Amino acid sequence: MPEKILILDFGSQYTQLIARRIRELNTYCEIHPYNHFPKPDASVRGVILSGSPFSVRDENAPVPDLSLIKGKIPLLGVCYGAQYLVHVFGGEVLPSAAREYGRANLVEIKTGDPLFRNINPGTQVWMSHGDTIVRWPENYEIIGSTADVQAGAYRIRGELTWGIQFHPEVWHTTSGKDILGNFIEGICHCSMNWTPDSFVESAVADLKKTLGNDRVILGLSGGVDSSVAALLLHRAVGANLTCIFVDNGLLRKNEYTRVLESYMELGLNVDGVDAADRFIDALEGVSEPEQKRKIIGKVFIEVFEEEAHKIKDVRWLAQGTIYPDVIESVSVNGPSATIKSHHNVGGLPDRMNLKVVEPLRLLFKDEVRRVGEALGLPGMILNRHPFPGPGLAIRLLGNITRERLEILRETDEIFIEGLRKRGLYDSVWQAGAILLPVQSVGVMGDERTYEYTVVLRAVNSTDGMTADWSHLPHEFLAYVSNEIINRVRGINRVVYDISSKPPATIEWE
Ligand code: XMP
Repeated sequence: MPEKILILDFGSQYTQLIARRIRELNTYCEIHPYNHFPKPDASVRGVILSGSPFSVRDENAPVPDLSLIKGKIPLLGVCYGAQYLVHVFGGEVLPSAAREYGRANLVEIKTGDPLFRNINPGTQVWMSHGDTIVRWPENYEIIGSTADVQAGAYRIRGELTWGIQFHPEVWHTTSGKDILGNFIEGICHCSMNWTPDSFVESAVADLKKTLGNDRVILGLSGGVDSSVAALLLHRAVGANLTCIFVDNGLLRKNEYTRVLESYMELGLNVDGVDAADRFIDALEGVSEPEQKRKIIGKVFIEVFEEEAHKIKDVRWLAQGTIYPDVIESVSVNGPSATIKSHHNVGGLPDRMNLKVVEPLRLLFKDEVRRVGEALGLPGMILNRHPFPGPGLAIRLLGNITRERLEILRETDEIFIEGLRKRGLYDSVWQAGAILLPVQSVGVMGDERTYEYTVVLRAVNSTDGMTADWSHLPHEFLAYVSNEIINRVRGINRVVYDISSKPPATIEWE
């Protein structure tokens, strides 16, 4: 029987981090909204209640139905989760005199409590709440206190329920992962054997069962997600998988041929479609960012559909959707506002009457990479920087023309190859060049020039949601700038983007 931990989400910004830590402990877990979670079956070994931006006393505070969980399955409440378990079972939670926020130390720990096995008194924890527990229901026992918060952690006697007012999932709680490990191993008795290899094994078995002898198509982008999805599906259905890799004319220099070759080497059945002219013809002269994305999405669907129609009896469309997209679409707060629309093959399954299969929908990005590694995906694809679907089109500000696209492609190539040559590529999360619609005066030899400006952008990030600009060595920037101005006709000025996200975004459009 596969085993898992359920995390009920009350909307905390840290909920995903809880899941990350548990996955790092080689245990499978799922996040579900507090008001919409599957009935726990025998595979659910434990439940964690997340934190929340709400106070338990707020009028519209989240109120879960725990009747199938509390007292029946091991339960750990974190922050809001811990306060909720006090508030509704006869205790009292009131605003703290001072907000309890930031570092604290668990000065007292009840020895012998399984949640704190091998955790030493004094361990640093991270607090983030405006309320505190002032009165306890019967049978609640304090098992950890800080200097300011007597009720740092508690246990309910006679059942396997714990509450902690600090956040074990954040890095500042130095023994946080060990505390979660104690819950998972010592209290929930999970076997902690969920690894990339075991994921591959069970995912392939599931796919075989679901897909049988049906034919499947998948759009490959050259990125990690679709590549790993392809390899998994290939293991499950072999030649019944056809991959479609479209050259939209907006890829990096030589990318299409390079990537296509490595897909072939992997034994994948790949249909390469050179549709560059179709995309560029449709984009020529367009400057508005969202319009660019819409055109690219539309042409992509047309091209993909034409190719797909050439394959007989297709029943399934596979997609490289990953877990953050899944959580986002069902989150407590609803999907977050669209800041930039990301193109995908939305609408296609219905039009072509296809069923959708998403073999990576349970994995975080770094887990996708680990699974890719387990499947033998070459480093060339595995470790590449993220690259947006609309490609160079959204890094070419202003009107799209073939000539400007070439300028941008050459510049990007010099920058990226420079990062590789100097051993900096892997220390950066994502990098690329942006061509501005701005010309400025320069001088080359004895001649006055009036040419374009390019921006170099390199960022460090873990998930693309927030990012800081990469502090690349000045000497490297000087080298790249020189190379670009000397080698790319049409550029006489190179600048480096030193904005973080937020308030800027990674892409300029
Ligand atoms: P932003 O610019 O929103 O980018 O900070 C965050 C991450 O998303 C990528 N990105 C896109 N990916 N289609 C994509 O497939 C898009 O339209 C798109 N826009 C941004 C961006 O490259 C970065 O990794």
